[in-house]
Amino acid sequence: MKTQLLQSNNDGINTAADLLKKGEVVGIPTETVYGLAADAMNVDAIKKIYEAKGRPSDNPLIVHISRFEELEGLVTNIPENAKLLADKFWPGPLTMIFERKDTVPKEVAPKLNTVAVRMPSHPVARAIIEASGSPLAAPSANLSGSPSPTTALHVMNDMDGRIPAVLDGGECDVGVESTVLFVASGKPRLLRPGGITVEQIEEVIGEIDIDPSVVSDIFTENVASPGMKYKHYSPKAKVIVVDAKDNDFALYVNRFENEESIYALCFDEDIDRLNIPYLAVGSKYAQGDYAKALFSALRDLDDKGAKIIYAHCPEKTGIGLAVYNRLIRAAAFKVVTPKPYCILGLTGTTGAGKSTLSEYFKSLGGYIIDCDIIAREIIDKKDIIEKLVSAFGNVLENGKVSRKALAKVAFSTKENTELLNGITHPAIIDEIKAKLKSRENLKSGLTVIDAPLLFEAKLETLCDVTLAVTASKDIRLNRIMKRDNMDKETALLRMNVQNDDIIYSQKATYTVLNEGGKEELISATNEIINDIGVIINGK
Ligand code: TXA
Ligand code: MG
Repeated sequence: MKTQLLQSNNDGINTAADLLKKGEVVGIPTETVYGLAADAMNVDAIKKIYEAKGRPSDNPLIVHISRFEELEGLVTNIPENAKLLADKFWPGPLTMIFERKDTVPKEVAPKLNTVAVRMPSHPVARAIIEASGSPLAAPSANLSGSPSPTTALHVMNDMDGRIPAVLDGGECDVGVESTVLFVASGKPRLLRPGGITVEQIEEVIGEIDIDPSVVSDIFTENVASPGMKYKHYSPKAKVIVVDAKDNDFALYVNRFENEESIYALCFDEDIDRLNIPYLAVGSKYAQGDYAKALFSALRDLDDKGAKIIYAHCPEKTGIGLAVYNRLIRAAAFKVVTPKPYCILGLTGTTGAGKSTLSEYFKSLGGYIIDCDIIAREIIDKKDIIEKLVSAFGNVLENGKVSRKALAKVAFSTKENTELLNGITHPAIIDEIKAKLKSRENLKSGLTVIDAPLLFEAKLETLCDVTLAVTASKDIRLNRIMKRDNMDKETALLRMNVQNDDIIYSQKATYTVLNEGGKEELISATNEIINDIGVIINGK
């Protein structure tokens, strides 16, 4: 099938209307995004939409009308709220969900007894509905899963060869899809934020409910808006939403300046601070600009060969909520929140590679609080010496605690180890707190609490995030024997007083498996650092 690109003059509109009357699918402009339209009262035509789009057929369609009277032919009743909203926002980017009349093919909303209806404001959309003589079912005219089209060219790129025609009506004004509001029964509920904002709606009918899926990936058993459960709007590039204040965005993404094919999707205000390639979507104070540019920008960045797109998160109010909703779906819900100041708890079993990581964090400019060193210093303190002697007998050598003698008794049984911890941990914690306090007024930087017993000593409560480094028992055993020049028996003894790796990985926010070389460990750790969003040394 060859796809014709029709101009939006009389000829074009008539050709498109003829195709629609024959039960064909046509790409049409609306003020939000382009739609893939077909006669909503013709079952075969509806099926062609699902085919052309490659869309799961349980995902319901919006029916587009051009006059209010057409609504009565589609729905069993029109609640008062819906009348008020239609009066105010139709024609325009608001879709409302009503109880469906039996005369409407169930294929527009399979498995549901409702129908979504909207009256677009785009003059070409209205003209084509009029000329075709029937309400038009139309999803966004993208291939299922990819960004919605906001120009006829986008539709051609996705649909060429799949549908007979696309009607060119220029660039869409709004840029994100209509707001979807459930009004069929009960309190009106927002299922999808869009061109008409929550604030605008509430001004007319008072408070509405917001479906949890609008801002998260939580879906109730009976998904209210089936379309929202699929991965959506995704370009080929991986998208990561960066929820950052002002210049934290630039500070965060600039760490990728030496990497290839990483782009920022950003505000005009970010540009001067960025060291990586970018596509700006307008001022952060003009939320509508982001909406208008979003989908087109995602497609453009794909064309540029972007591998990863870091998108600056908009304010989640007004039409910004719609942008946010689309972005988190494009990102498969991956949102990073940059942290200018972060306390990271680093832990892991002996031989797993904790020290290597600690050194790495130091090389990045991190401030390391090494609990082993603190523990060593603490046993030289008078009150601790007394407690240790009363618990373990004479573990002294020349008036000082002999680490060897202490280790021998203290690690001989689990009970003794606990006894030792009971004496040393409180003192260690006090020391850590003192060190943290001295850094309290810092506005940026990474502090690492390097602690083998991070969880046992409940130090995680002092941390923003925790990272456990793990490796299999055999690998650790070999490392310890080599590193500390230990025989197998002593090394095993040392390992056995610790918890299993699994405990660490269950408790930690992040786990890194260290069974390969140092380079692999560092690269896996870098990914974690990126995910945590910590800004190290202004990078
Ligand atoms: O702006 C728009 O609404 C565009 C233009 C073309 O009008 N259309 C559009 O359609 O975005 P589509 O199919 O891409 O998205 C329709 C959304 C989906 O999330 C779908 O699940 C939901 O509306 N929806 C449609 N009918 C529904 C119904 N009866 N109940 C609940 N959700 C429904
Ligand atoms: Mg869509």
